[in-house]
Amino acid sequence: MAKLQVFNRLESEVRGYIRSFPVLFEQAKGSLLYDSGSQAYIDFFSGAGTLNYGHNNDLLKEKLIEYLQEDGVVHGLDMATQAKKEFLETFESVILKPRKMEYTFQFTGPTGTNAVEAALKIARQVTGRENVISFTHGFHGVSVGSLSVTANQKFRSASGVALANTTFMPYDGYLGPDVDTISYLEKVLTDTSSGVDKPAAVIVETIQGEGGVNVATHRWMQELQAVCRRHDLLFIVDDIQVGCGRTGTFFSFEKMDIQPDIITLSKSLSAFGLPMSMVLMKPEFDVWSPGAHSGTFRGNNLAFVTATAALKHYWENDRFSKDIQKKEQIIRDCLENIVQSYPNAGLCVRGRGLIQGLVSTKKHELAGEIANQCFENGLIIETSGANDEVLKLLPALTIEPELLKKGMAIIEQSVTEVLTRKTAKAQ
Ligand SMILES: Cc1ncc(COP(=O)(O)O)c(C=O)c1O
Repeated sequence: MAKLQVFNRLESEVRGYIRSFPVLFEQAKGSLLYDSGSQAYIDFFSGAGTLNYGHNNDLLKEKLIEYLQEDGVVHGLDMATQAKKEFLETFESVILKPRKMEYTFQFTGPTGTNAVEAALKIARQVTGRENVISFTHGFHGVSVGSLSVTANQKFRSASGVALANTTFMPYDGYLGPDVDTISYLEKVLTDTSSGVDKPAAVIVETIQGEGGVNVATHRWMQELQAVCRRHDLLFIVDDIQVGCGRTGTFFSFEKMDIQPDIITLSKSLSAFGLPMSMVLMKPEFDVWSPGAHSGTFRGNNLAFVTATAALKHYWENDRFSKDIQKKEQIIRDCLENIVQSYPNAGLCVRGRGLIQGLVSTKKHELAGEIANQCFENGLIIETSGANDEVLKLLPALTIEPELLKKGMAIIEQSVTEVLTRKTAKAQ
């Protein structure tokens, strides 16, 4: 495509999503993206989960424009700004207090991996230990510290240095439904000859987004926290992809009756697609000395403005949560229907809230073929999982029900087209 030539000519081979969606995007509104030819695409990818409130959400955009027009501070290092003050106060009153949570905030560099790096440093400083427990199929970012707790070989092998100080343990369900992976972890930590150095922390996702929409049960998460408490390990929940409302509650673990020592948030925290990352730590773990994790971008004031507006608008009562549950039902019904319609295709569904996966258990490449067909049919959707075997649905939480149904119809139609083509080829 001529319009993409400059990207091919000048941009590194490392570029990724442009290959899945090879058009020039020009505009975006709500759950629709438009290319330069004005073709509309329904967005079921939401900037990899950064746009939980849709593209150019008017409520948030208005606040942002207002702030800029009043010459609010855009870059302020980590100095005190009005935008940051309002964010801190609002997050405390709207999110933490009603959930009886007490945490200290740290604003790290602007992307998710920056928050993970800081969380790991905190755990190591607090305990004086180096090793960290992470889980099979876990994804926590691609800077070296985060990469060492990320499982996927594709990312690990690009590191160029040894990725150390991590022990990977089986995630919930990794060894099949009948194997209790928590008992294994407990045994390894208790046995002084297991070969595993006593860790500083456990880092875990409640749902592994990049790892293939693997959902940990509430009981597994509770037992994992209990293991951490028994062995004096910090319990880090990485809520970067599935926090900020993705599962129907603000934090993904709210119904699990757990209290992580450290929580990492990013992606949809700014609510507008602006880079912003944050670590929440229990106050007793705030062992930083002033400036010890300093940097140029430590809190993005424009992101504070939109984040505050989103918290005030969407999270002051449970209306938004209830609305997300209704949309989850629309998605689940449609995906279950697809699975039942094609009993021989080896498909199954998993997920929670508005992160759902259509898993291709027999022929892994099927998920990618469906994603490509969806794009042809006007829907943006990606795959995840070790073998890209999961069609991952991440629509905006604000998507209109009619558009959601339209997107689901495109998935259904695309599955039919791909499977029909495959059957014809086999004959
Ligand atoms: C759970 C989780 N942690 C960390 C990250 C890294 O975030 P970023 O890509 O912004 O560095 C991601 C990104 O997908 C993620 O899903």
